[in-house]
Amino acid sequence: MPSMPMTTPQDLFVHELSDLHSGEGIIVQMLGEAQALVQNPQLKQGLAKHQQESEQQAKNIEQVLQMMGQQAHPITCHAAEGLRQSLQEVAQSQPSPEVLEGAVVAGAIKSEHLEIAGYTHLVKKAQAMGQTEAAQLLQQNLQQEQDMLQQLETISDQLTQQMAAMAGASAS
Ligand SMILES: [Fe+2]
Repeated sequence: MPSMPMTTPQDLFVHELSDLHSGEGIIVQMLGEAQALVQNPQLKQGLAKHQQESEQQAKNIEQVLQMMGQQAHPITCHAAEGLRQSLQEVAQSQPSPEVLEGAVVAGAIKSEHLEIAGYTHLVKKAQAMGQTEAAQLLQQNLQQEQDMLQQLETISDQLTQQMAAMAGASAS
């Protein structure tokens, strides 16, 4: 697509919303791929739930854009795509099930941090621009990302302990 000139704060806001919108789509895909890679039922279920939430989050962004008389630009969130591809690389490196599960959790944690950074920034921006409704919708998304991050951290701690126990057993 020929790039449009971006000259105003609103142009940048729309660009950033479009980038997050693309990121949600890529993360929906990544979460789908990740579910096929893991066995842990708690993790699988968490990924599936957040996949559904992410679809709704993309719609919330579309609604924010609509309220501004805009629609999402067809750009690619390179950061999200990079995380997706990094996980694919591990998946294609003949990983053990434990390593693969650890990589899925780490990739998901990174994607949450990416989204939390994006939404935190845009909630502040919407508030500063006096766009209360937009700020509320973006805040909903932010809250879901924070909840998901917490769940993932809990699972990650469990996996790390298991890995440490395995490493200890093989060392002795
Ligand atoms: Fe998301």
